[in-house]
Amino acid sequence: MLLPERLQTLRLTLRKPRKADAMHIFDAYAQDIEVAQYMVWRPHQFVGETNDFILYCIQEWASGRSRPYVLVHTENDDIPIGMLEARIFSNTIDLGYVLQRSSWGAGLMSEAIDAVSNAALALPECFRVQATCDTENHASARTLQKCGFAREGQLERHTILPNLGAEPRPSLMYARCR
Ligand SMILES: CC(C)(COP(=O)(O)OP(=O)(O)OC[C@H]1O[C@@H](n2cnc3c(N)ncnc32)[C@H](O)[C@@H]1OP(=O)(O)O)[C@@H](O)C(=O)NCCC(=O)NCCS
Repeated sequence: MLLPERLQTLRLTLRKPRKADAMHIFDAYAQDIEVAQYMVWRPHQFVGETNDFILYCIQEWASGRSRPYVLVHTENDDIPIGMLEARIFSNTIDLGYVLQRSSWGAGLMSEAIDAVSNAALALPECFRVQATCDTENHASARTLQKCGFAREGQLERHTILPNLGAEPRPSLMYARCR
């Protein structure tokens, strides 16, 4: 599925990752335990971890397996404030997303999710955009609802969130289809 390399929203640009993004992402949110709480990774202790992650994202773009977009304010293309990954399955795109804490609550991630979902569902081979979130991640669930995603159900023992314990936790499945 050929999602575009660049997407534009009212306030944001979604673009391909660059090596230089790692330092900014490390400073902006990768070390932040509150940001990482419901993510599948632990807060980064060293910038080298963020470097490795960005290299992995660059490889993902090259392989076509997924599109991990970096989110920047359009007027400040060099400074990442978050990421939105679109993982590509046969007829489905699965989203994962994160934003620096200082940008929460301003509708930015809704803007980004809406733009990626519209672009995906405009592709002839894409019929479904989905995302899961922890049952206690109310901000994430609300963000998906605002973007027109329907709650389809609860997935028991679905995801281990290492910052919240060693056992898999329940997730909610949300999707927007055409
Ligand atoms: C989830 C996240 C991406 C949302 O980004 P955002 O730009 O703040 O989202 P938006 O501003 O578009 O929308 C957030 C909505 O959740 C609401 N919200 C925030 N905290 C909430 C809470 N604890 N309970 C209920 N609703 C909450 C906001 O009020 C807003 O809804 P509203 O516009 O109706 O008032 C951001 O909080 C984040 O990065 N969290 C950490 C990483 C994460 O959890 N990622 C998702 C993993 S599934």
